[in-house]
Amino acid sequence: MILITGATGTIGSQVVRQLIARGEPVRAMTRNPAAARLPDEVEVVAGDFGDTASLERAVHGATAVFALSGAGPEIPDHDRALIGAARAAGVRRVVKLSSIGMAGAEPPPWHEAGERAARESGLGWTFLRPSAFASNALEWAPAIRAGEPAPNRFGSGRLGVVDPRDVAEVAVLALTSDRHQGRAYTLTGPELISAGEQAAVLSAELGRPVTLADIPLERLRQQMLAYRPDPAFVDQVMAGVEAVRDGRAEVFSDDLPRVLGRPATGFAEWARDHRAAFTG
Ligand SMILES: NC(=O)c1ccc[n+]([C@@H]2O[C@H](COP(=O)([O-])OP(=O)(O)OC[C@H]3O[C@@H](n4cnc5c(N)ncnc54)[C@H](OP(=O)(O)O)[C@@H]3O)[C@@H](O)[C@H]2O)c1
Repeated sequence: MILITGATGTIGSQVVRQLIARGEPVRAMTRNPAAARLPDEVEVVAGDFGDTASLERAVHGATAVFALSGAGPEIPDHDRALIGAARAAGVRRVVKLSSIGMAGAEPPPWHEAGERAARESGLGWTFLRPSAFASNALEWAPAIRAGEPAPNRFGSGRLGVVDPRDVAEVAVLALTSDRHQGRAYTLTGPELISAGEQAAVLSAELGRPVTLADIPLERLRQQMLAYRPDPAFVDQVMAGVEAVRDGRAEVFSDDLPRVLGRPATGFAEWARDHRAAFTG
């Protein structure tokens, strides 16, 4: 049995779908099973990273765990709680969805504790450190549908934008084989691409202009504080945003094509497959 946390989100839902397609037994964790739209083949379990007893139920009998905590300052506590429960239950391997760091070699601060907990757990571990998801462009969809400039937080900085489906495919391999244990993969797309270049791709796909409006740094900081009233965490995130804007986050890796044995999916293909979200 493979337990997928974050199963209703961007990456987790793809991991669930791909495991089911391979005929693997899947248990999906969500805080709200009644609202979760998961395939019929999936065993759905109620679980919250903040509720240890629910984690113990979720990991019971699982051989592998996909560890994906949502975004926020609670990630370290959530990761430690899940890995602790997995270890106590005798799980064999954990695949942690981490994140690319500015220099490429290390995760950002909010994923360090979870990686450390996994390394020290005695479990077989694999870390996936993706760059920015192509699906982040869906945040632009309401503005694009309305014919308005889409909000851009990253200026002209370029990122190795990666297709979530590719990230999930690597997760599936790591969850179902011992070959990826003890590996930390930096997962980027096939190109470094700026927000402006992504807008141009969408423009070509949609056949009409897609424009962007840069969000001033201070306004972005206030928006983040309103959403996450944790100044230390917001400072860390803002440091990352500034690094992207300054071109200090232009990290590219060939880990993904090496693991999958095929090229990574480019932003143009992602845009083609998600065209409907921008036309409405
Ligand atoms: N976006 C990017 O460009 C990017 C790039 C690199 C790394 N990342 C990392 O990716 C992760 C986010 O992945 P995602 O975008 O796939 O997630 P997402 O779509 O935002 O979904 C979050 C998932 O986490 C679950 N969740 C949230 N709080 C929970 C809690 N307290 N207990 C149990 N489950 C909880 C939600 O499940 P329910 O609501 O069903 O309970 C949901 O399935 C973050 O760790 C982020 O650092 C993101």
